[in-house]
Amino acid sequence: MVGLTELSGGVGGPEALRPLLAQVLAALTAGAVRRGGPVPAGEPVVIGEVVREALARAQGPGALGQLVELLAHGAADPADPACAAHLHCPPLALAVAADLAVSALNPSQDSWDQAPAATALEAELLAEMAQLVGFRPDRAAGVLTTGGTESNLMGLMLARDQRLGPDVELNGLPRSGRPRILASEAAHFSVQRAAALLGLGERAVRVIPVDRQLRMDPAALADAFAEIGWEGATPVAVVATAGTTDTGAIDPLHAVADLAARHGTWLHVDAAYGGGALFSDRLAPLLDGLDRADSISLDWHKLGWQPAAAGVFLVRDARTYASLARRAVYLNPADDEDAGYPSLLGQSLRTTRRPDAFKLAVTLRALGREGLGELVDRCHDLARKAAELVRAESELELHCDPILTTVVFRYAAASAGAAAEDSDHVNAELRRRLLRTGRAVVGRTELPGTGPGRVRLKLTLLNPHTTEREVAALLSAVVASGRAVRNP
Ligand SMILES: Cc1ncc(COP(=O)(O)O)c(C=O)c1O
Repeated sequence: MVGLTELSGGVGGPEALRPLLAQVLAALTAGAVRRGGPVPAGEPVVIGEVVREALARAQGPGALGQLVELLAHGAADPADPACAAHLHCPPLALAVAADLAVSALNPSQDSWDQAPAATALEAELLAEMAQLVGFRPDRAAGVLTTGGTESNLMGLMLARDQRLGPDVELNGLPRSGRPRILASEAAHFSVQRAAALLGLGERAVRVIPVDRQLRMDPAALADAFAEIGWEGATPVAVVATAGTTDTGAIDPLHAVADLAARHGTWLHVDAAYGGGALFSDRLAPLLDGLDRADSISLDWHKLGWQPAAAGVFLVRDARTYASLARRAVYLNPADDEDAGYPSLLGQSLRTTRRPDAFKLAVTLRALGREGLGELVDRCHDLARKAAELVRAESELELHCDPILTTVVFRYAAASAGAAAEDSDHVNAELRRRLLRTGRAVVGRTELPGTGPGRVRLKLTLLNPHTTEREVAALLSAVVASGRAVRNP
């Protein structure tokens, strides 16, 4: 047991960590070598058996190395060019090293006396984030979150509280007078989840149609506002998406902001994915109008190369944060605040909270906005190249031109004469085949609407070191898998 009960902090902490980290790093290498690709070959039952056996075998001082190797061997590794399914980025080694320091020191941001420097650092970083989105840093407020889901919940909670007050009693309202949230068909499902959690019910979300790119139709939004008015319902918030999960489409922010302003409705912009475009001179203009939002979600564990979690929630006007304020006598007593000890407790829905701002502060200092922008541009270039390759391949069909770093398409050989169900089956099965054989991790989604023929494949290109040849090889693997499914 010697060494196994040492602590990671204090003057002795780094020396206790050193041999353990050596084991971790060696096991990460061994696991990646054993995997030899983006994901281990095998179906879930096989992987489940490997995990059970490893857990039964690992014990004592060797457990760390054995289980890290298991985790690495069994990972879907976004650093592999053929792992390109989700908004699941390969983190920068720099950011992971910074996060290690956070784990070692374990500060918690629910009170100043658990995180003196981290508390001050989060405020500085949030001011930089406010500037990035075009808010006035001296008026804005925000917090680091677990991601878009939590940020969207916070934005809609503040919207509800602004419009209806925090103690809204829905049972007392006539059905027609109920609150409504307007969001597009392509908005993230966490909007519906938030509506449910906030007591408004999932059906409070009025779904607005989208165009082919999955951009919200502003004329349909105007109609929905009118209908809500006739019903006597209350429009509490509009959610615009800046970077839809599948196509990266950016809703028409000015048009949506105009309508929100006309109806006195809170505007929340979910820029969890598209926020990364702010780093790029080329792509930032796509987000013009973002500064008109009342609240914004950003996620640096998507297009930002941070290990999860690295969400940021921002509001344009700090006064709208009031309903989250909390006084807990053991964390932020009034006399401490009077004496100049700041508290972040009232910024977050959470109590214990690790300083996720730290890795981002390190990354921004080391690379600058330009450095991150270069990574964004490389991924955007890769997406454009992938689209060109899809267009040139007769067996594939592109859904629409890429906007950020995703490419939506399908394997379409012979689908002209084939039933839509068949196309859906082939695309779904070819993706599982790639996963089963450990060759590639490709995304699968469905276009909005109903009925068959909507299944599509997706490459989410977030690895700036991937080459065009590797993208071409990935698409060749998709075609080969499609042929194998069609002609077993
Ligand atoms: C547009 C958008 N918003 C919100 C989320 C949820 O983010 P998280 O998984 O960080 O909670 C996602 C996740 O992919 C997303 O694509």
